[in-house]
Amino acid sequence: MQAIQIIQEEHGKIWRVATTMNLVADEVDQGAALPREFFQAAFNYLEGFVDQCHHPKEDQYLFRLLRLRTDQADTVLQALEGEHRFGPGNMRELRKQLAAAQNGHCGEFTETLRRYTEGLKTHLQTEEREILPLARRTLTSTDWEAINSAFLDNQDPVFGTQAKEAYRELYHRIAALAPEPIGLGAISAGALKQGAVPGGETLLKVSALESCYGRIQALKGVDLEVRRGETVALVGANGAGKTTLLRTISGVQPMSAGSVFFDSTDISRLRSDKRMRAGICQSPEGRLVFGPLTIEDNLRLGAYTQPKQQVAEDLEAVYAMFPVLKEKCRLPAGTLSGGQQQMLAIGRALMGRPQLLLLDEPSMGLAPLLVEEVFNVIKTLKARGMSIILAEQNAFAALAIADRGYVMETGRITLSGTGQALINDEQVRSAYLGM
Ligand SMILES: Nc1ncnc2c1ncn2[C@@H]1O[C@H](COP(=O)(O)OP(=O)(O)O)[C@@H](O)[C@H]1O
Ligand SMILES: [Mg+2]
Repeated sequence: MQAIQIIQEEHGKIWRVATTMNLVADEVDQGAALPREFFQAAFNYLEGFVDQCHHPKEDQYLFRLLRLRTDQADTVLQALEGEHRFGPGNMRELRKQLAAAQNGHCGEFTETLRRYTEGLKTHLQTEEREILPLARRTLTSTDWEAINSAFLDNQDPVFGTQAKEAYRELYHRIAALAPEPIGLGAISAGALKQGAVPGGETLLKVSALESCYGRIQALKGVDLEVRRGETVALVGANGAGKTTLLRTISGVQPMSAGSVFFDSTDISRLRSDKRMRAGICQSPEGRLVFGPLTIEDNLRLGAYTQPKQQVAEDLEAVYAMFPVLKEKCRLPAGTLSGGQQQMLAIGRALMGRPQLLLLDEPSMGLAPLLVEEVFNVIKTLKARGMSIILAEQNAFAALAIADRGYVMETGRITLSGTGQALINDEQVRSAYLGM
């Protein structure tokens, strides 16, 4: 039932956009300036994605087959289809009111907007609570084959790979344009790129690695491998040892047994600054930006092992990726929102010209829209061919973008496989994905 999973993920995104619009509307009602571009971006997404892709797909495949199998849902389906048909008209009305709204006189617009998001959310809930469970019970395996193959058809002009890229761009713009701290605040977080194909050669090889805090053994013999260009997810509950493993790889945490090979060289006895010079750079858990220092000085700290003459060029490269940091480069880092601080922590790691980037819980504590944005940044780095280890408690999101993943429990690797295989694994689903 891959189609159901796709539909539910899409619902999640639409729900987040609706919630975000409401939050921004609250601010506007309390006197904040009307962020016109943000609303336009959200409407473009809803119109392009929801009205032209998501809804037609449901109508054509899921609802049609469901009608053939049962008449139990006829009334509900009719109502939902009606709402699908009204979508574009409602959107035109919203756009008209947005055009007419002026700062300080937005009441009519925000009221219509709230009615719209309310309707959209009720619609999604009806599908989630009534239609999807009924479909699960009623449709046959032949039906699911037909639905799945339609949903997974990457060539389809309306919802194939290319269309998805376009929708991802539209969604990305919403996160960039949403006011802080909900979003990044009227500045793009850089363009997204198509994924690159990971190469085959081994970049990092960790064998039988052990590490202790006093008498507590936090790593109990860990084996892990990263190939060049791969994104590897490291998932597991709080306290499993993810942070310890990353810190042992970067050399800031001592190891008591085992070995670490990087680029075919034994670096087990190398100090952390030497490992950093070799290309292992870390964005630590909790971000750890230096609040009183300016954003630019924080970035420069990331380049302390690098030759001076390349710093200016690398700063520009980081600023091109995170224009929000350029805009604020002279401000103390402590003034940034959580999402922006995460961008700074990643930018600081990039200043070390990593060959292997270690990201420790980059989505922790961020608003949902920014979680998505941080994962978009990781996808962009992946697309540029960066090798990445991504430690996350947000297992689903991490596995979804990873080539491979490892599951950690109390200092050991208990499972590994491709990201998709782990997402489909019963054990992983119940323990980490809350399913
Ligand atoms: N500084 C420390 N001193 C003592 N024990 C620690 C320290 N940091 C982590 N630990 C312990 O090591 C284990 C692994 O922790 P950690 O690597 O932070 O896990 P995770 O990142 O997966 O949440 C836990 O049992 C934790 O209590
Ligand atoms: Mg941790």
